[in-house]
Amino acid sequence: MAQPIRKPTRLEPWQDPDAVPYVRIDKVTKRFGDFVAVDDVSLNIYRGEFFALLGGSGSGKTTLLRMLAGFETPSEGRIFIDGVDMSGIPPYERPVNMMFQSYALFPHMSVEQNVAFGLKQDGVPRAEIRERVAEMLDMVQLGRFAKRRPHQLSGGQRQRVALARSLVKRPKLLLLDEPLGALDRRLRERTQFELVNIQEKLGVTFVVVTHDQEEAMTMSTRIAVMNQGYIQQVGTPSEIYEYPNSKFVAEFIGSVNMFEGRVVEDEPDHVLVRSEEAGCDLYINHGVPAPLGTQVWVAVRPEKIALSKEPPPAAADGRNVTRGVVREIAYLGDMSIYLVELAGGKTVRVTMPNVTRRTELPVTWEDEVYLSWRPFAGVVLNQ
Ligand SMILES: Nc1ncnc2c1ncn2[C@@H]1O[C@H](COP(=O)(O)OP(=O)(O)O)[C@@H](O)[C@H]1O
Ligand SMILES: [Mg+2]
Repeated sequence: MAQPIRKPTRLEPWQDPDAVPYVRIDKVTKRFGDFVAVDDVSLNIYRGEFFALLGGSGSGKTTLLRMLAGFETPSEGRIFIDGVDMSGIPPYERPVNMMFQSYALFPHMSVEQNVAFGLKQDGVPRAEIRERVAEMLDMVQLGRFAKRRPHQLSGGQRQRVALARSLVKRPKLLLLDEPLGALDRRLRERTQFELVNIQEKLGVTFVVVTHDQEEAMTMSTRIAVMNQGYIQQVGTPSEIYEYPNSKFVAEFIGSVNMFEGRVVEDEPDHVLVRSEEAGCDLYINHGVPAPLGTQVWVAVRPEKIALSKEPPPAAADGRNVTRGVVREIAYLGDMSIYLVELAGGKTVRVTMPNVTRRTELPVTWEDEVYLSWRPFAGVVLNQ
């Protein structure tokens, strides 16, 4: 799982009650016939954010983006950009540019001409066009390729031309629909960093649609997780990862072990969940507003579980400690994944970093092991 690369010192306007959102989506619903594609969505997006709409296919991401751009009209609700109600304002009068899922470049034009196209149409003076295009090509590191045609470029380079073309008009808000979808894994990763750098340099507000959770985690200031047209959770990448508000989000972002159980102690500073599935009581050091007996799920991330052949210290009180047999091991170089079968039959996923180079794993196939984790490792979910 990639960790967010955003600097922690970054200004966080969403935590400032006085901050004025740049984009305000207010109770927006979009219906196609009687099908609800976007369901009562409210969102505030702040200037300079790199905001991701994340969700599976068909969750309404593109439809929401198209409403921001003005290509679709909300069935209900309103959208404000920079304080202005966008109702009835056509796409070309919005301070917005959209980079499409399939970024078609003009094949008969050079890189330079592709980027200059929009400025020419707007009647920008030639000298200024030349300057702005050159500056933008430098920024996306394509200065050397200015005279090439799109077919003489790699996929990643074409993607950067499309980006330069969207940015050269200096939109205040750039909407990107699966911008890295056509790139292979390596190039995606590199381009993610480039996108973030360019966005920070220009201070443009980005709203990016993606179905790729790792991409959203790596690039965004905040993520809205969409499910069937509605927003399930909004938060920073680490909030979404560490404090998912539902099983849906916990399972959508990264991998997670989910233990079903019932609340048997509910105190302000902790919760105790009895779980047959886990084979032990689960102690979590934060309270949840859940009455005794409530059915809940406790989510524990694979990297937060330790494996040992000897009983860990926590074994004394039998909380957050269970036993199982190692059934599968996948060696991934930087880390290994262990699939451990508990007595009740549930399979638990555990990951451990490979910090030393060793020829023999400390834990191997068919070993009986203890699985243990700390009180802060689990998150209690009641939906
Ligand atoms: N013009 C349209 N007419 C009818 N249904 C549509 C239209 N556009 C999108 N939809 C439906 O709305 C849902 C959300 O679509 P979309 O916003 O493209 O999802 P995503 O981008 O998250 O994959 C899908 O079920 C899709 O079939
Ligand atoms: Mg889409």
